[in-house]
Amino acid sequence: MKVIEVNNLVKKYGNLTAVDNISFSVNQGCICGILGPNGSGKTTTIKSICNLIIPDKGSIKIFGKNNTKSMNLLSAIFDGTRNLYWRLTPKENLRYFAGIRGLGGKKIENKIDELLDQFNLTDKKNTMVNELSRGMRQKVAIAMALICDTDIILLDEPTLGLDVQSYMDIKNILLDITTNMNKTILLSTHAMDLVEEVCDDVVILNQGKIVVNDSVGNLMGMVKRKTYEVNLLHTLSDENIEYIINSHLGCYVMEDKSSIEVDIIDSKEIYNLIDVLKQQNIFIKEIKQKEINFQRLYLNFTQ
Ligand SMILES: Nc1ncnc2c1ncn2[C@@H]1O[C@H](COP(=O)(O)OP(=O)(O)O)[C@@H](O)[C@H]1O
Ligand SMILES: [Mg+2]
Repeated sequence: MKVIEVNNLVKKYGNLTAVDNISFSVNQGCICGILGPNGSGKTTTIKSICNLIIPDKGSIKIFGKNNTKSMNLLSAIFDGTRNLYWRLTPKENLRYFAGIRGLGGKKIENKIDELLDQFNLTDKKNTMVNELSRGMRQKVAIAMALICDTDIILLDEPTLGLDVQSYMDIKNILLDITTNMNKTILLSTHAMDLVEEVCDDVVILNQGKIVVNDSVGNLMGMVKRKTYEVNLLHTLSDENIEYIINSHLGCYVMEDKSSIEVDIIDSKEIYNLIDVLKQQNIFIKEIKQKEINFQRLYLNFTQ
């Protein structure tokens, strides 16, 4: 079931089109990551979904209804540290935010303790927020998004500027939420390993446009494909090239006609190309493996 649906969203600031006609959806229980360079429209998209920005065009639906009518179904955290009251403790902050949503009593008190424990914040629960580290504050902010128990959680760069420990805590919490709680999460981030390890789907934005919208699995499948460069001792004849192309190995003969590139998933597949070259009496000078990683893939899409 589609929980968040963004259709043909456009947001302009004067001459600048911050979000340029984007459409995507997030299914129930999934984590969708929005990646993209600074200024690509991530925050504008998330703010539009939670009705903090009125788009110029397009529609946003939450559980099939116009988002203006569904604000009670979602909680959002932007630059976490600003959502908190610095002169209150984590416990008081959580109690206050639950109270705004009409939640209180013993059940909430227990839940606050549980959440703070899960976030490794138990020993800081009665310390004023302004005495906490950035990572701790960020964790309190995310706990605030969870205390209200909404079906949908939007997180704008939840791990920005965090130390390794806080980053790991947040990553584990996100994994825990989606595996055990059937919540739908949309988060923006620069952390590619967060997307790789936590997200089901990914949207990559560049200059306000979607350049990739796919499952992380598919995207990683593209990354697992390795490129081998085979340099040959001699220049290929037209007849050789035709033979190689007709062998359907997914090779590319380079312009100089003395090297071939082939994209393969299993390293053994390189032998297929070697066999074809052998049949044509073509000698190999060297074989090099070129690395493709998620980062390079991402840069390919955004540059
Ligand atoms: N309130 C605003 N007024 C004018 N321009 C804005 C405003 N908010 C964002 N922008 C511009 O819109 C573009 C997208 O911004 P943003 O959505 O914040 O990107 P991201 O979150 O991906 O870094 C940027 O070029 C930014 O400068
Ligand atoms: Mg942003």
